[in-house]
Amino acid sequence: MTLSSPSFETVYWKDDAVVLIDQRLLPHEETYRSFRDVAGVAEAIANMTVRGAPAIGVTAAFGVALAARQFPGDEAAILRACDQLAATRPTAVNLFWGIARMKACMRQHGPDPDILLREAQAIRDEDIAGCRRMGDFGAAYLKDGDTVLTHCNAGALATAGWGSALGVIRSAVAMGKRIRVIADETRPLFQGARLTAWELAKDGIDVTVIADGAAASVLARGLVDAVVVGADRIAANGDVANKIGTYGVALAAHAHRIPFYVAAPFSTVDLTCPNGAQIPIEERAAAEVSHVAEHRVLAAGVNAMNPAFDVTPSHLISAIFTDNGVVLPPFDDNLARLANAN
Ligand code: MRU
Repeated sequence: MTLSSPSFETVYWKDDAVVLIDQRLLPHEETYRSFRDVAGVAEAIANMTVRGAPAIGVTAAFGVALAARQFPGDEAAILRACDQLAATRPTAVNLFWGIARMKACMRQHGPDPDILLREAQAIRDEDIAGCRRMGDFGAAYLKDGDTVLTHCNAGALATAGWGSALGVIRSAVAMGKRIRVIADETRPLFQGARLTAWELAKDGIDVTVIADGAAASVLARGLVDAVVVGADRIAANGDVANKIGTYGVALAAHAHRIPFYVAAPFSTVDLTCPNGAQIPIEERAAAEVSHVAEHRVLAAGVNAMNPAFDVTPSHLISAIFTDNGVVLPPFDDNLARLANAN
């Protein structure tokens, strides 16, 4: 099959506004929303209208560009807008990376709205190009006929386009390989069931959704050739924070000797963070666990906790596919070497 690019947009700039596909409504409604001020963009990141590490980094960069229009020439107000955007979600380092890059641009060129918008556009374009490179690097690790298990949504919806983990699958399919995908539903917000399955099916890629609890036995039964997931932050030693449930999949893949790959651009690598224990893990509202859609499933008085991410230790990871190349163990040395080479 031929694949050029996904048939939807995740985040883009149009008519003085940031436009986002509202991921809360997928797969039933494909609605695009325009945001014209930084408060709206910050709210859209916090309430997960837009989600996925690279996508929120790109969205925050456009938020800074909006702030430069809202507060012409007022660097202090733009810096306050940066703080507002940075306070939305703590785990995905791409958010802070995107904001830091916009601040560096402002330090160099001043609060020029056109220059800041060009920088945000460049961040978006580079993310798409980086996903394509990463996809091609990773696709070399998949064989014609493979079945790939993935968790959460690390697709075009989680990036500016093409995707990280799903970018690897898209690239393999574009190379002519037949790939089947098993997508964990990914409770509590169902990014796998709602988003991964939607975007793969839209591209004609064979996808089957399983309950999260089925993943270990599906791996044990030999139904999967490789696991590919995305990442929200990769520490200097190669430990990876990703959507809650990823760690369990990695343990099961290791137990059954199935390769476990992580696909993430270098904007997800945080060399200032020595290991996974130092990665801040977002705790989201208990209501996301206690309720499914609007319906409470817990008895009155029962507590719920909702850590949104977990950390997979590097020894469970076979390789990390990045936009700059493939990183193999030992990850501490090889991540630093690749970072320095670029
Ligand atoms: O809470 P979310 O939906 O923003 O979490 C997203 C993930 O965990 C993705 O797997 C990760 O951001 C990688 S996206 C290319």
